[in-house]
Amino acid sequence: MPAITNVTAYWDHYASRRPEAAAPEDALKNAFGWCQYDGHGPGDEILGEPATALELGSSRGHAVAALATKGIDVTGVDLSPVMVASARAQWGHLPKARYVEADALDFLAHAGRRWEAIYSIWGALWFTDPEQWMPLVRKCLTPGGRLVFSWAPPVPGSYGVQGMYGSGFAGPATWIYRWAYEPEVWERKLAASGFGGVRARVEPAPEPGCVGTLIVEAHVQLQFRHGSGRAEQLQAGGNPVDGNAG
Ligand SMILES: C[S@@+](CC[C@H](N)C(=O)[O-])C[C@H]1O[C@@H](n2cnc3c(N)ncnc32)[C@H](O)[C@@H]1O
Repeated sequence: MPAITNVTAYWDHYASRRPEAAAPEDALKNAFGWCQYDGHGPGDEILGEPATALELGSSRGHAVAALATKGIDVTGVDLSPVMVASARAQWGHLPKARYVEADALDFLAHAGRRWEAIYSIWGALWFTDPEQWMPLVRKCLTPGGRLVFSWAPPVPGSYGVQGMYGSGFAGPATWIYRWAYEPEVWERKLAASGFGGVRARVEPAPEPGCVGTLIVEAHVQLQFRHGSGRAEQLQAGGNPVDGNAG
């Protein structure tokens, strides 16, 4: 195994340990789910009915493909070249699916457009400092646009940034981070960052005593202010609404 000397190599290595789905029909069967248990929990209905969507940490691209086959224009972003190559090879023919190799923060910072839904399924947002991604995600959502993400609930008593050695204790020093908070803390953080309608919860596992799934939903609020005789729409945070520039 080549040495894991940076975050990208870590995720490429992770990709090499995850089998590719044999047939597209099989890959699409349970392609969209927030939980680690196939067919369990809510599905894509909690995204609303977006015309455009962005997945952060799209891996092999199955969830993007599932939405694209429903007619949604979807972009999947992943920093692993192995993941992106696999997604393009299997799903590149879908006219509404697009796969981009990039770090989520860099991509959001330079996107220059907005989406009606942004989501992350055990994906890039888990591994990125929320203080950095929250304002960028909000900026990249259309007014009323929805944010949904899911990953593991926190280990009780272990909160904030969690670090691990990506190449083990005897390999090159490569650090991988992710962020863990209880649902009510996510609600406070997202509300403080200007999101509205924040709902965070743990979806119970199908079997009692097994690990559930943290699922968080929020949206970009519309605000109204009166100016020169007409109501002017403002996006939460005070930016004038300029529609989807993309
Ligand atoms: C744990 S995997 C799982 C994601 C996938 N949605 C799933 O449910 O199988 C996390 C994915 O996020 C990607 N990722 C991690 N950090 C990222 C970042 N900063 N920017 C973009 N992608 C990232 C990884 O390459 C990997 O494909």
